[in-house]
Amino acid sequence: MKILIIGNLGYIGPIVVKHFRQYHSAYFLAGFDAGYFIQNYTSNGIAGDILLDRQYYGDVRHFDEDILNGLDAIIYLAAISNDPMGNVFEKQTLDINFHKAVEIANKAKTIGVKHFIFASSCSVYGSAGSAPRTEKSEVSPLTAYAKSKVFAEKELEPIADNNFRVTCLRFATACGYSDRLRLDLVLNDFVASAIVNKRISILSDGSPWRPLIHVKDMARAIDWALHRETGDNFLVVNTGSNRWNYQVKELAEAVQRLFSDVEVSINPNGQPDKRSYKVSFDLFEKSAPQHQPQISLQSAVEDLKKGLLSIGFADNNFRQSDLVRLKAIQKLIDHNIVDENLFFKNS
Ligand SMILES: NC(=O)c1ccc[n+]([C@@H]2O[C@H](COP(=O)([O-])OP(=O)(O)OC[C@H]3O[C@@H](n4cnc5c(N)ncnc54)[C@H](O)[C@@H]3O)[C@@H](O)[C@H]2O)c1
Repeated sequence: MKILIIGNLGYIGPIVVKHFRQYHSAYFLAGFDAGYFIQNYTSNGIAGDILLDRQYYGDVRHFDEDILNGLDAIIYLAAISNDPMGNVFEKQTLDINFHKAVEIANKAKTIGVKHFIFASSCSVYGSAGSAPRTEKSEVSPLTAYAKSKVFAEKELEPIADNNFRVTCLRFATACGYSDRLRLDLVLNDFVASAIVNKRISILSDGSPWRPLIHVKDMARAIDWALHRETGDNFLVVNTGSNRWNYQVKELAEAVQRLFSDVEVSINPNGQPDKRSYKVSFDLFEKSAPQHQPQISLQSAVEDLKKGLLSIGFADNNFRQSDLVRLKAIQKLIDHNIVDENLFFKNS
């Protein structure tokens, strides 16, 4: 099988590459990425990047469709990939996450590609009350980022047919160590704070629900989507585990348990967090019994701690660092490397 991973040089991409090399070693794997975070390297072993058969550098907004010739599948990870970035770069978020995903899917279908896997997000549910959201629940995207995922799903649906299967994986919030770690994710932030500040400060009262999924389990789900023989040609599926619907305070406590000297503080008067939602992962459990999440919360935290210590992490100002995506992008702009539209200036 020949696969192109678009957006492979971010947080999740290198782990997806490692997964495919481990479980499908004969597959041809190519990557395509603009390289916004190429310098944010936190690998403590063999990195996913070097396991690829080919790496293309470019922007999906100037995509050379010849790259698609001979491919069987596309995994579309490229995105302005969280709410804070989407709020600042609204137009670019819609272009990259939505318009270009749909355009490339259309081209891929014409050329004979068979599978398109789209990295969607549970954030499409927005503020969702207490009942777990299913794929049939109404979406209520609150941000440009969440809207881009909803719009993309909607326009990918009519493209799917017997010869072009589209799977939109509505991932829970990611966590876990990666070759390009991000610390703008709740669990990763808590572990980093525990290491450098000996303290985890929760801005809310700790009660918001946040479904999580480990990056290795995301890769497992992508593997399933690529090979699935059940389900409709177009499938949207919440991707995570019912056991990983955690409240924010439970996440902090799980981190605290692995450190002897860390305090957790909550803010009893904190504003209600609009992003509190519980998600039902029943469809994923039923559809992908062999590809269910396997990592435990405790091992995710242990692995993050080990990984951060192995790279000598000691930055108590990490929320202003390159390990926070918005800060990394802003630095590229400040240094005149990318322009305000997020195009590399030398491309
Ligand atoms: N991390 C999460 O919590 C999470 C949860 C749900 C869904 N997702 C989705 O999974 C996907 C991957 O997430 P991630 O955490 O690895 O994101 P990331 O930001 O770490 O990586 C995205 C990659 O896309 C590339 N990219 C962005 N714009 C591009 C462009 N115009 N042309 C070419 N490449 C471009 C970036 O350079 C980067 O390497 C995203 O679509 C994201 O929305 C992530």
